[in-house]
Amino acid sequence: MSGEPFYITTAIAYPNGRPHIGHAYEAIATDAIARFQRLMGRDVRLVTGTDEHGLKMVQTARQAGRDTLEFADEMSQYFKEMCDLLNISYDRFCRTTESDHKKASTALWEAMAANDDLYLDRYEGWYSVRDEAFYDESELVDGEGGQRFSPQGTPVEWTKEETWFFRLSKYQEPLLALYRDHPDFIRPESRRNEVLRFVEGGLKDLSVSRTSFDWGVPVPGSPGHVMYVWVDALTTYMTGIGYPDKTGDFSRYWPADVHIIGKDIVRFHTVYWPAFLMSANLPLPKQVFGHGFLLSRGEKMSKSLGNVVDPVELANMFGVDALRYFFLREVSFGQDGSYSAEAIVTRVNAELANSYGNLAQRTLSFIFKNLNGILPLEGEETADDIALLALVNDACANDVPREFAAFAFSQGIEAWMRAVFACNQYIDVQAPWALKKTDPIRMAAVLRTLIKAIRDLTLAIQPVIPDSAGKMLDQLGIPKSGRDYAALVDKDWYDRLAGSGFKFDAPTPLFPRLELPKDAAD
Ligand code: MSP
Repeated sequence: MSGEPFYITTAIAYPNGRPHIGHAYEAIATDAIARFQRLMGRDVRLVTGTDEHGLKMVQTARQAGRDTLEFADEMSQYFKEMCDLLNISYDRFCRTTESDHKKASTALWEAMAANDDLYLDRYEGWYSVRDEAFYDESELVDGEGGQRFSPQGTPVEWTKEETWFFRLSKYQEPLLALYRDHPDFIRPESRRNEVLRFVEGGLKDLSVSRTSFDWGVPVPGSPGHVMYVWVDALTTYMTGIGYPDKTGDFSRYWPADVHIIGKDIVRFHTVYWPAFLMSANLPLPKQVFGHGFLLSRGEKMSKSLGNVVDPVELANMFGVDALRYFFLREVSFGQDGSYSAEAIVTRVNAELANSYGNLAQRTLSFIFKNLNGILPLEGEETADDIALLALVNDACANDVPREFAAFAFSQGIEAWMRAVFACNQYIDVQAPWALKKTDPIRMAAVLRTLIKAIRDLTLAIQPVIPDSAGKMLDQLGIPKSGRDYAALVDKDWYDRLAGSGFKFDAPTPLFPRLELPKDAAD
């Protein structure tokens, strides 16, 4: 593949339960960025996967009376299936229990050891199994019955073990220099400030191995020790592109352009991860983006539906593209957002079904019925036509890509919607159905203008609703080679296509109106 490389990752989820809507949200957003960059001509790699080591997995499997690996095998599969269902265009789905990942983690460990950054000592302190994180006494919150909680609200336990330590304290200044010299390393801004405050407060060395269980990557040369789960989890970003082999894909795609993660794990990615990499003498990722949390707060949801946080069920209920559209449109990327069945139905019906879908369906079926699906060439372009096409093209070729490039999906889609509304206004004012009798030549020009606009709109929205947009472009006869953002500046495509004698078949509506499932309304 030619084009400048672009490497993007999602967090790798703990498969200690089935995927939930937060996992789906992260995968969808990451995929939209990957698809956008591909359409901008970049050579994209997208890596995702599951984080299968650590005490949490051991305990969950034990509670379920299952063998840990067998449990991980089954649960990991649900995550992969979710990614496939949601049309996530990953290049590699990494499981941390795979042998090449163990190799990569071992290599990173050895590189840190070679730099004299690992030493054996005794750890005594607080640990949260749920977060798989160590916390400082000063960060804890007191709960009932003497139970103490992490700042994330998860219970912590006092642990005492002989462990390997990583000299994190040594990296305090280099990390602060990184944040200073690369202000975009941590986004959005609010997360950057949190991290700055944390690091400025002083860094203690980090316990990076465990001896109380053996479910993990063995520490090289140190029997009885397995790596702290975050050491191996973060390494996945390199496993996915071939590390420790530094010659192939790794040399092409590393460092990552962006790690997309949730706001709860920013510290691991912006403090520990760059410190490990500095220690191993490896280049640092260019950016870490901490998105917000998705909460289910729909007040009108019934109890039974309120529990529908299974993304697979939601996708089956409303359609994959409807779900993708909703998340990317409704939630301002970086901030928290909420969803409900009602909000999905309202948004998707108003924008995809009634506006974009209806525009395309009305136009295509009109051409199909009245012109046998042949693209009209006759009729002069009027000032109205030129103005509409300029507005649509500007939105699609400039506003949408500018916003998507900044991960501002909601704003990008809003710009897109304004162009859709302008087309619907145009169709109402021009009323091609009336022109059919009074001025068929003018009718042809109006329909041609609409087809041009619909093609631009469809090209621009592909990262968000790839399946439906693809079907629409198929219907319109747009060749696969003419579907990237560069095609938006091609002004001759219509004449070429119409001149080739292309005609389309009876169009199928892509966005039927959604119904709110009965028990969701009360
Ligand atoms: N295994 C670690 C990540 C290791 S990355 C080297 C982990 N797993 S997780 O399953 O708890 O979370 C996976 C991702 O989903 C994280 O980025 C997390 O922030 C995100 N989300 C978990 N719940 C979420 C919501 N409710 N909403 C949005 N994203 C959420 O952390």
